[in-house]
Amino acid sequence: MASGNTHILGISAFYHDSGACLLREGDIVAAAQEERFTRKKGDASFPVNAVEYCLREGGIEANDLTFVGFYDKPLLKFERILETYLGVSPSGFRSFLQAGPLWIKDKLYMDRQIRDALGYEGEILYAEHHESHAASAFFPSPFEGAAILTMDGVGEWATACTGVGRGSEIELISELHWPDSLGLLYSAFTYYTGFKVNSGEYKVMGLAPYGEPKYVETILSELVDLQEDGSFRLNQKYFNYLTGLTMTGKNFDKLFGGPPRTPETKITQREMDLARSVQVVCEEIVMRMANTVHKQTGSKNICLAGGVALNCVANGKLLREGPFENVWIQPAAGDAGGALGVAQLIWHRHCDKPREVTAGKDGMKGAYLGPRFSEEEIEAFLESKGAVYERLEREDLLKKVANLIASEKVIGWFNGRMEFGPRALGSRSILGDPRSPKMQAQMNLKIKFREGFRPFAPSVLLDRVHEYFELDRESPYMLLVAPVLKERCIPMTDEQQELWGIDQLNVKRSDIPAITHVDYSARVQTVSRETNPDYYDLIREFENLTGCGVVINTSFNVRGEPIVCSPHDAYQCFMRTHMDYLVLGPFVLDKTKQGEWKESVDWRKEFVLD
Ligand SMILES: [Fe+2]
Repeated sequence: MASGNTHILGISAFYHDSGACLLREGDIVAAAQEERFTRKKGDASFPVNAVEYCLREGGIEANDLTFVGFYDKPLLKFERILETYLGVSPSGFRSFLQAGPLWIKDKLYMDRQIRDALGYEGEILYAEHHESHAASAFFPSPFEGAAILTMDGVGEWATACTGVGRGSEIELISELHWPDSLGLLYSAFTYYTGFKVNSGEYKVMGLAPYGEPKYVETILSELVDLQEDGSFRLNQKYFNYLTGLTMTGKNFDKLFGGPPRTPETKITQREMDLARSVQVVCEEIVMRMANTVHKQTGSKNICLAGGVALNCVANGKLLREGPFENVWIQPAAGDAGGALGVAQLIWHRHCDKPREVTAGKDGMKGAYLGPRFSEEEIEAFLESKGAVYERLEREDLLKKVANLIASEKVIGWFNGRMEFGPRALGSRSILGDPRSPKMQAQMNLKIKFREGFRPFAPSVLLDRVHEYFELDRESPYMLLVAPVLKERCIPMTDEQQELWGIDQLNVKRSDIPAITHVDYSARVQTVSRETNPDYYDLIREFENLTGCGVVINTSFNVRGEPIVCSPHDAYQCFMRTHMDYLVLGPFVLDKTKQGEWKESVDWRKEFVLD
């Protein structure tokens, strides 16, 4: 039994990406997404495994909890769904039949569900969806006071909110309402360009630099009636999400000259131009909303959350060109982060507890809030698999791995606690040499089995960031895109500029080509010794060896698979791909020394391609 500490469990579920978070006396003890345990990407089911992990990490049982918080209000959401269907009936009936029974069964009886799943008898509190996002944006931020902007697809009714945080309080100021939604606008283009809604948005953003903003005028004149303050109406005649089961309809096809791209077919210039256009519009809306919340609050700081806050290109622009001096983004900006938000809201608002801020330091612990595995656990696992491995002392291990990266080997790096949020930040990462011109294609196609156009991100020593990028501050969660420093860039010749979109990717555009996108930008993660000493010291070793304080960091998974959680997941991913080495804590595995890997089924069919 836990002592007299207040334990609060936050839960988010039933929409996208479910998750759980445990606070002890306001301190984040654990947080994780359900998908990592069930191995189903974006798993939205009740996060039984994530809850169980959080309780285990906290050393408590469900009835030791003081409060359980749920990240949105199911009845309000049901009201929105019902009104939407009634409003567009009978054409909406088809999607009601699909969504309705699920809602009635799972979502209205939340109290009972939580009690049954947890065996918990105590109090259950609910926050509004955007309140949870806003709380997750502000409370862990390094600011005493800040403007708050949340943007996503939809919660109950709200699709975006402005607000203000002061000390231990947050207050929402204005809202944009369903069906006018920046998240859904972006998702409509994600669908139309042939990617999966709710996970392919990232690909649209990555594809954008290959295209021209040809359709911006069309989008702004036909689809989006955008106001100066960033609010807008979407012309529903072009969309299909109210009445049908797709995002866009026939009018949309007519406007953009044809049907949506069939997933997995060749990407053409049209998709690139559409991606660029919706990205430009998205940035414009974010900038206008940010200007509005700046006027409303007068703050020099802004905090962001909600799925749209994962658009790191828009975030980078906001930092460079927006009215705020400081920008902080919740690393678990999507719905899983709502679990953290509601828990913190209960702590500060319901329990009326003060908030302590250390200047320049956020409360997320580097987002390393997930499961960890002891040396004994890892070794027992390796023994059970008959794996061939060696154990190295820390210094030797870091030297060896740095050497391997420098010789163009691809390393699976599994170290410490798993990250909370969609980005791998050096705990569950695949690492490579950013100086190598062949690394981007090799890692995309042979390791990740994903589309060749997708750029990789750099991890850079925090104290070196200004030597590589036009960025003079921390970006610990890989949520800011910044230009690669001019003196490192290699301009493309006239001939190279003539190359078609994706072919430009193979042109060496800087002295760190593997992480330089076609528009000479990079999605930067700064690494500090304080939050991840092993990863920091590894990159430092690589720098000592090569003079380069940057490595490629891509998430440890293959396409369609959630990021690995356990030694088992990591080992399996290592054996299935062309990864050269696996580092599990202090143990190093050389692929050439492992036995043959056999699987009876086509394992790639396990994953729903996103
Ligand atoms: Fe959300």
